[in-house]
Amino acid sequence: MKRHILVTSALPYINGPIHLGHLLEHIQTDIWVRFQKLRGHECLYVCADDTHGTGSMLRAEQAGVSPEDLIEAVRQEHVRDLTGFGIEYDNYHSTHSEENRALSELIFNRLHERGSIFTRDVAQLYDPERGLFLADRFVKGDCPRCGAADQYGDNCDACGATYDATELGRPRSLVSGAEPQVRQSEHYFFDLPQFSGLLKGWTRSGAVQPEVANKLAEWLDDGLKPWDISRDAPYFGFLIPGTTDKYFYVWMDAPVGYMASFKHLADSRSDLDFDAFWNADAGTELHHFIGKDIINFHTLFWPAVLEGAGFRKPTRVHTHGFLTVEGAKMSKSKGTLIKASTYLEHLNPECLRYYFATKLNGMVDDYDLNFEDFVQRVNTDLVGKVVNIASRCAGFITRNFDGELAPELADEALWSRFVEASESIAERYEAGQVSKAVREISALADLANQYIAEREPWKLVKQEGTQAEVQAVCSLGVNLFRILAIYLTPILPALSKAVSAFLNVGPLRWSDIDQPLLGKRINAYQALLTRMEKKQVDRLIEASKAQPEAASAEATNGEDEGQALIAIEDFAKVQLKVARIAEAEAVPEADKLLRLQLDLGDGRRQVMAGIKSAYDPASLVDRLVVVVANLAPRKMRFGTSEGMILAAGPGGKDIFLLSPDAGAQPGMDVK
Ligand code: MSP
Ligand code: ZN
Repeated sequence: MKRHILVTSALPYINGPIHLGHLLEHIQTDIWVRFQKLRGHECLYVCADDTHGTGSMLRAEQAGVSPEDLIEAVRQEHVRDLTGFGIEYDNYHSTHSEENRALSELIFNRLHERGSIFTRDVAQLYDPERGLFLADRFVKGDCPRCGAADQYGDNCDACGATYDATELGRPRSLVSGAEPQVRQSEHYFFDLPQFSGLLKGWTRSGAVQPEVANKLAEWLDDGLKPWDISRDAPYFGFLIPGTTDKYFYVWMDAPVGYMASFKHLADSRSDLDFDAFWNADAGTELHHFIGKDIINFHTLFWPAVLEGAGFRKPTRVHTHGFLTVEGAKMSKSKGTLIKASTYLEHLNPECLRYYFATKLNGMVDDYDLNFEDFVQRVNTDLVGKVVNIASRCAGFITRNFDGELAPELADEALWSRFVEASESIAERYEAGQVSKAVREISALADLANQYIAEREPWKLVKQEGTQAEVQAVCSLGVNLFRILAIYLTPILPALSKAVSAFLNVGPLRWSDIDQPLLGKRINAYQALLTRMEKKQVDRLIEASKAQPEAASAEATNGEDEGQALIAIEDFAKVQLKVARIAEAEAVPEADKLLRLQLDLGDGRRQVMAGIKSAYDPASLVDRLVVVVANLAPRKMRFGTSEGMILAAGPGGKDIFLLSPDAGAQPGMDVK
């Protein structure tokens, strides 16, 4: 029976770039989605950026752009990075969209009407200088329990205590540095306890993994509390209907973003019906893939909100653990906080997809990326075993038989073993036990290699009267390889595509597994995947250590040293000026550097800029740029640099100088 399935990955925050932790989730989701599509089901995959909150507002202010411009730029970066790993969304939207506004309002109004919303005054820390209520991560002070200094508003790093921000000793606002005041304001609450009974049933209905159900049972037994869903102005988000200064808390409209992204997709396609996927009685499936840090939002609040608003509940929430690198939390100083874009500059994305696939087990455990293991898995198992089958056999077919496969199968029994593995491998994929699927595929590859090794076509080919046997053995090898490539298609879409070109067939399909290619002409073999070199990995780590802070790089989950927000006073110390590039020349001894003489109106100064890979020096003369004018001069190997010019982009050819419009004059302050 054809299934109709809607799938989501958690919506990445716009506060930082996509890193390998996000990829663990999106690759896992994409494998599951591709598997469903390969099996002939309708499977739609939507995602979006999670954009709202005080953080977005402050960051946009600091950058001197509108929040809308900021979030759209980040969204495009995110999409570029994620799709760079072969992740295929049907739609990648934004929570700051009209669809999301309309749906969030609709849901709120329905919850309100049925009596699941109430208001209550809440005491909170308020920054009098900025006129802003402070979220926990924007206040620091002394821990009320152990007295440790410099602790955030929710818990203490030193003693582990959790508390209310109003309890902090000597509190100060991280936004302005001012001493916060305690102020009351009215908040809107979602009456979660009304849904306890529903949730007790739903969490035991097979909708979550057993270990998650156990955790939830503890929470449910402890008793649920109403959930604060509002934030005071100023805030970047959606106004709560009927108010002029209360906004939906970011976590209220974020999951609605799943619906909104689908709505946007459905509106663009006549064959898709929004209601068929979201009505309370929808016969379709809804699957969310999330990390273990956001279980409560997806398995308590979200199902309750959906139920209360008359929508369907998720069929299944697939929770995964966290990615660690070399046994530890990802860390910038060790070079293990690896951004997706940096990875793509150094390594093949399919290798990471494969490596994650060897780990995924459908449980909530953490997964470790160990570089030595990574290289070995890819080289030994994937290149050495699987791809090797094709490279060993195809040459003979091309050279000795004009590319034509034998008319029949040399060993029906062996062939059947490969075909019969289909259901078991499919079950593994369905259950998210991708590592077990990979192990079965690998075991089959061993059988194929063993078969070829025993028949020794490279010897047979030199003998008289054994040519038909060479063709038969190698043709079976190619056919066995084809089945493996079909099984690996969800994990390795690019390889799968290359294999279909090599075999001279259309896109690989699961339903073709039992139909061998006989008497058919295939194309000459070209390397499908090359071995990884440890050197490439070393370079990736070096590059990750060296990375300057990109504008969007900030605290992200799983990172141990998030860059703290800076106060506006800190930002004000940076003096930005318009400059004209008077002279530009390459530094021949340096790979990346250009030597620029800048005209700042009041004289010249020299700046060494690492933009050689993107700009021809001659093209820069007379161009206006923005320069950090009060940077302490730095002695470099090829001269002193007396400032820094601003540019955007990941590097290489993609470096884009920030240029003021014509009309700006050298020496003008940039504000
Ligand atoms: N914006 C929220 C999700 C809203 S969903 C309605 C959020 N964003 S996030 O960017 O912090 O994380 C997005 C997803 O990536 C989450 O599922 C999170 O668990 C996952 N991961 C973030 N860091 C991770 C690792 N180091 N390892 C594995 N997954 C990680 O939470
Ligand atoms: Zn403490």
